[in-house]
Amino acid sequence: MHLTKKDLEETDRVKKLNIINSISGIKPANLIGTVSKDKLSNVAIFSSIVHLGSNPALIGFIARPTGEVPRNTYDNILENGHYTINHVGEGFVKKAHYTSAKFDTDVSEFDACGLTEEYLFDFKAPFVKESGIKLGMKYVESMPIEINGTILVIGEVEHVIIPDEALNDKGYIDLAEAEVTGISGLNSYYKLEKIGSFPYARVSEVPDFKNN
Ligand SMILES: Cc1cc2nc3c(=O)[nH]c(=O)nc-3n(C[C@H](O)[C@H](O)[C@H](O)COP(=O)(O)O)c2cc1C
Repeated sequence: MHLTKKDLEETDRVKKLNIINSISGIKPANLIGTVSKDKLSNVAIFSSIVHLGSNPALIGFIARPTGEVPRNTYDNILENGHYTINHVGEGFVKKAHYTSAKFDTDVSEFDACGLTEEYLFDFKAPFVKESGIKLGMKYVESMPIEINGTILVIGEVEHVIIPDEALNDKGYIDLAEAEVTGISGLNSYYKLEKIGSFPYARVSEVPDFKNN
């Protein structure tokens, strides 16, 4: 199958959306937990989480355009200044998926989807109790992406929670051990299997691939 830009433009809208959403490969599966100034909690699934730098520890995500549809996650982040990022574990992918439904603002997806909100360390936003790996984030800035009206939302890591058995003494996290999942497109969830781990790639240490 080869599709040009013109072919894609002529493809059924939903099919094109599915192809383009899946084509970049496996994306991380995370739930963003927030709370409004009226203390109404919110949790929703996001796959666009991206590492932006380690010092300071910055993580970004892409928020869809704000418009007619209320974007509770983004609004709450702006109001509260804090939010959590919680990895979706194998045991609750279905519950996590349904947090994407367009619930009314006064409905907490924690209740509607059977997830447990958890307040830790006096942090101002709810963590997801079912989640093994989770981050407490402080909002830093937003960058509009003009071509499609999306927003890159940037936050600084204030808390990191990792199951002891998934973290080694060098700081590497074993995502398979932590039973976290990956997403293809907008509806397919994958479990992870570690298939390799290699040292920092120095030119002087590159194996002889031409003869082996
Ligand atoms: C697998 C999956 C991944 C998603 N990733 C994102 C994302 O990265 N950014 C985004 O704005 N919405 C994403 N969504 C849609 C949100 O989950 C959805 O709009 C949700 O209703 C947002 O909740 P809120 O209105 O409470 O913020 C995703 C949905 C699914 C099913």
